Amino acid sequence: MKILLCGGAGYVGSHMAKWLAGRGFEITVLDNLSTGHREAVQWGSFVEADLLATDSLERVFGSRRFDAVMHFCARSLVGESVSKPYDYYLNNVSGTLNLLQAMQRYGVNRLVFSSTAAVFGHPTSALIDEGHPKAPINPYGMSKLMVEHMLADAAAAYGLRSVALRYFNAAGASETAEIGEAHQPETHLIPNVLKSVLGQGPGLKVFGDDYPTPDGTCVRDYVHVDDLAQAHELALAYMEQHEGAHAFNLGSGQGFSVREVIAAAEQVTGQRVPYEMTPRRAGDPAVLVASSERARRELGWQPKYNDLRSIIESAWRWHANPKF
Ligand code: UFG
Repeated sequence: MKILLCGGAGYVGSHMAKWLAGRGFEITVLDNLSTGHREAVQWGSFVEADLLATDSLERVFGSRRFDAVMHFCARSLVGESVSKPYDYYLNNVSGTLNLLQAMQRYGVNRLVFSSTAAVFGHPTSALIDEGHPKAPINPYGMSKLMVEHMLADAAAAYGLRSVALRYFNAAGASETAEIGEAHQPETHLIPNVLKSVLGQGPGLKVFGDDYPTPDGTCVRDYVHVDDLAQAHELALAYMEQHEGAHAFNLGSGQGFSVREVIAAAEQVTGQRVPYEMTPRRAGDPAVLVASSERARRELGWQPKYNDLRSIIESAWRWHANPKF
């Protein structure tokens, strides 16, 4: 099966490339390298192209045939989306529209789309399932929700089959550590905790200890990037059996506080994690934990990383010796 991985030079996209290559898929990575890394493209062939440049999309679709597209390209920083909303609507919504139109022109009718927990906004229940109200509190979440709506309309009008996978907190790295999380600047908790151990970066700040949680710090649901990759492969099979636009929440169903992440990182590294307690970061909900029952039941998803420690261990192998 031939798959186009848009954004395959990024964090989740490059782990997807490795996963699919290991299972005999033929993959083409498309990336504009604005945030992705050329060094992360180690599987399949690579084309430098931009979803906002329709001529470069024509080149890609005109020169090869694809059975399905997986779409990871996005601006994905919540805070930045608040200060630069046009960038987010342009890249995430217009860019995706260009991709969908190119797929339509070339008869590619299957899409797996990277969505996010940010489509839900502030949770109204302890576990967030697919039926939870969608009320994004920032342009990033709104841009992803707009695409989910586009996919539903495309299913009705053109018969596009799609699966949107709403990641909670993607974390960890490939077991063999040739790829891993390398954002610039890094805003995510686990990389920042590990960089603090290594004495890299500006030093870890913990954003608030006055949340209504057991220890006062925010609670999140960390899910290993290879478990996300597994769900994408299952989504391909799901689309063979199911018409229409579908969405699944992907998380472990277990929440960990920032303090718990720091304690687990201290166990894994055997070192103290230096940090400074600071006021809350704008836009952080206190608790975000997924119910992924539907993904387990309908996709047959079986995450392998069921504890925070093993997720952090894999991230540590990468951060202790990053290749790019
Ligand atoms: N945090 C810190 N210090 C840091 C980084 C993070 O204390 O240096 C805290 C945050 O305040 C938050 C938790 O650690 O409470 C996790 O923060 P991340 O930035 O790692 O992840 P988020 O939960 O903010 O973001 C995730 C996804 C986004 C998605 C968002 C939905 O990465 O794509 O959930 O709210 F939009």
